[in-house]
Amino acid sequence: MGQLHQIKGSVRSVFKVRTMKILCLLGLVSAVLASPVSQRFDGEKVFRLKPTTDQAVWFVKGLASTIKVDLWRPDSIDQVVVNSDVDFCVGAQDVQKTQDLLEMSGLEYEVLIEDLQTMIEQQIDNKERSVTSHSYVKYNDMETINAWIARTVARHSNLLSHSEIGTSYEGRPIYVIKIGKKTGQSKPAIFMDCGIHAREWISPAFCQWFVKEAVSTYGSDPIITNLLDTMDFFVVPVINVDGYSFTWSTNRMWRKTRSKIRGSKCRGVDPNRNWDAGWCTIGASSNPCSETYCGPRVESEKEVQAVANFIRHHKGSIKAYLTMHSYSQMCLFPYSYTYDLVPNHAELNNLAKGAIRSLASLYGTQYTYGPGATTIYPAAGGSDDWAYDQGIKYSFTFELRDTGRYGFLLPESQIKPTCEETMLAIKYVADYVVNNLY
Ligand code: ARG
Ligand code: ZN
Repeated sequence: MGQLHQIKGSVRSVFKVRTMKILCLLGLVSAVLASPVSQRFDGEKVFRLKPTTDQAVWFVKGLASTIKVDLWRPDSIDQVVVNSDVDFCVGAQDVQKTQDLLEMSGLEYEVLIEDLQTMIEQQIDNKERSVTSHSYVKYNDMETINAWIARTVARHSNLLSHSEIGTSYEGRPIYVIKIGKKTGQSKPAIFMDCGIHAREWISPAFCQWFVKEAVSTYGSDPIITNLLDTMDFFVVPVINVDGYSFTWSTNRMWRKTRSKIRGSKCRGVDPNRNWDAGWCTIGASSNPCSETYCGPRVESEKEVQAVANFIRHHKGSIKAYLTMHSYSQMCLFPYSYTYDLVPNHAELNNLAKGAIRSLASLYGTQYTYGPGATTIYPAAGGSDDWAYDQGIKYSFTFELRDTGRYGFLLPESQIKPTCEETMLAIKYVADYVVNNLY
């Protein structure tokens, strides 16, 4: 009797183990089939430190070498300096240790985001988005943006046209939209790009807003009307199309391109460290696993090549280069690869000052401005410096909202005010350029 019981028991447990195995396998298979499997950020926290002494800077660097941190600002650890905010994200398993170390150090710190996964889910309600329709006050995925480009250009063919300037590493098309009254003559132009860094979602949102504003205020707004009559805008809504798609499908915090690197398990190059402007000399890394990896060579990235070729091809006509990033609320101009001031420094400084004053007039949003190297950090291989050295003497990088409350996860409720105020800054710069053609 006792023996029988035992046998029954072991039969049952064998059965249990089997069922569990099968269930696990099924789970795994369905997880793979339901790909892409999104990376989760449960329990991850975003901290802010403001090191006020050299010792504190050392401490921060030490912390970053013992714990795996995702730096949100600055982009790399060698850019951490006294009295500048350091925003970084820590995995759930390291949160306690980080907090203990911070308490021990006596450094003041803030928790910007308590739980990154919760914040991401609040921003994007995936269920509601199964039907994708375009909206200027929501973030749009790559397919929705591409459909919007085709539709909008077709609807406003008097002012708009578009073309493919190249394809990405994974084969996605990269589009440029040309905005301007068709005069049959070649016109001076302003080039603007968005979405060079994948996770900076407010940037592509602004490029879409800009196109909408331009076509809808042409004929009523005197500045826009004059601009589109005498000039063309070239707008690339998303440069880093693979990275942007990846932030929607798999990893909301992705920054780089998605290219495979020979001899490394890490993927992607920082597309704003890959340009031929003091390439990889400062503020960039030659380590493929770094968020600021400069790439195996200058213009190794197809996305960078596509834009660089386009600009080289239109060099005579492009009078200004504008590139949109987030976050930090800054208006930057060259140089970032050196501390040297550019020949027209005073002019760019005044222009930046006027642009941010105009921006602030709407909602009081405060921006800082100046040369990249001293205003944010020295970093070589950027598109603004490259464009400047191509002879485009009005070259600006905008770092849009916010200053870190939400960082890359800027809520959709802020898209409209951010785009409205940024519009004022861009109009200010463009109006200056159109009146100072060279
Ligand atoms: N946050 C931007 C970046 O790191 C700033 C770019 C400023 N310009 C530059 N050439 N580094 O890419
Ligand atoms: Zn950026």
